[in-house]
Formats: sequence, structure tokens, C-alpha cells
Amino acid sequence: IPLKSLEGKTVLITAGPTYEAIDPVRFIGNHSSGKMGYSLAEEASKRGAKVILISGPGSQTVHDKSIAVHKVTSAKEMLAKVFEFYDRIDIGIASAAVADYAPKEIAKEKIKKNDEHLTIELVKNPDILKTMGDKKTHQFLVGFALETQNEEENAKGKLEKKNLDMIVLNSLRDEGAGFKNDTNKIKIFTRTDEKEFDLKSKDEVAKDILDFVEAQLLK
Ligand code: PMT
Repeated sequence: IPLKSLEGKTVLITAGPTYEAIDPVRFIGNHSSGKMGYSLAEEASKRGAKVILISGPGSQTVHDKSIAVHKVTSAKEMLAKVFEFYDRIDIGIASAAVADYAPKEIAKEKIKKNDEHLTIELVKNPDILKTMGDKKTHQFLVGFALETQNEEENAKGKLEKKNLDMIVLNSLRDEGAGFKNDTNKIKIFTRTDEKEFDLKSKDEVAKDILDFVEAQLLK
């Protein structure tokens, strides 16, 4: 793969968790560190792409200052930010771990611990990637699937349901894969191909993913 193999392409990447506020001091979140998405952003930029990184909260930073980083907190904010750019992008990669549900109401004041039980009503968040799939025109769309069971079946289901071109499966059953680790172990599916990779650093995994994307674009 030549060094500037993504020259002329605009790549949008979602990364990290989303935080869904319960009250002014608490939220519902998850263990995503953003590392996978930030590695993808750095690698795409090295390959000459214009990179837009939409990132949930976390401590990751970009080294390559040409990457445009947009920080968001909730799934709704992430959705809105993605669609500020969506028409202009060639490749979309959704590596964010978006909260599927958010509290129906955000309490204005800190919730006091008065009662033995506390019930928080949750409502479904928008599915950002599904919305991207529905509005897809020329974009090449890559999703992730984070699974704990029926991994391949669920990943292929998401490829179809969200109208994706490619999906990257990582399983929490594989040691060193998924959240927080500096490593990941993936299997890629398109409608016609599949390929399994060894456990590697997330920087190396990002290269494998972008090599696969580039090979698909050349088809
Ligand atoms: O951030 P790290 O600590 O490095 O960890 C990386 C990772 C494990 C978070 C990453 O590799 C990963 O698997 N990201 C997707 C996590 C996830 O939410 O998977 P999912 O199977 O629930 O969702 C499927 C796809 O739809 C994902 O591309 C997700 O970004 C997207 N989605 C899901 C729900 C939603 N409301 N909006 C979405 O866009």
C-alpha cells in the first residue's frame, strides 16, 4: 500500500463512549477508551486522507494536528455532529460505543439518596450508524460489532440492518480484544468476503482495517 493511498478522500470516524446524563453529576456510560478510533484516525491521516474525528469523552489525544477533532458527550450530540459533515465524506467508520439508551429526563438537581429504590426510566437513543446507512449515497460505510455471543451472526445481521459495506467484529470473549486494551482481535465481513486477524496493537489493527477498505474501494 503506497503511503498516500487515501489522498483526496475524506474519512469520518466516530470514537469513544457516549455519556448520557442522569443528573448534573451522574451519567450512563461504558468502558470505551477511544483508542481504536484514534488509531484509525492517525492511520487514515498518514495515508493522506482528510480526517474528521467525532469523539466521545475520554483522555485520548491526537498527535497529528491535521486531524479535525470534534468532542461530543451524548449520542444525540454525536449524531448531530456526524450529520454536519456527512454529505462531504467518502468513508465513514463507526468505532464509537454509543449508549443504546438514555435517561428519559435529566434531573435538574443532584438526585438525593432518600429511598431504598430508585428507578430511572430509559428511552432508546438514535442509532447513529443506522441513520448513516439510511442516508448513504456514495459513502463507503464501515461499522463495528462488539459482541459477547452469537458473534458472527450478530455482526452479519448488523451489516444488513444498518446498510453497511463492511463490518469489523471484535468479541469480548477473546482475551485482549475490545475495550480499553491497547490490543484488539478482529474479523472483517463484507457481503462477499471475510477475513480473520491475529491479536495485534490497535495501531496495527487500524492498518489492517484501512488496507481492507482500500482493497474494497479498488474492486
Ligand atoms: O474505544 P476502545 O476502548 O479502544 O474500544 C474499542 C471498541 C471495543 C469500542 C470498538 O472496537 C468497538 O467495537 N466499537 C463499537 C462498539 C459498539 O457499540 O458496538 P455495537 O455492536 O453495539 O454497535 C454496532 C455499530 O453501530 C457500531 O459501529 C456502533 O458505533 C454503531 N452504533 C450503535 C448504537 C448506536 N446508538 N449508534 C451507533 O452508531
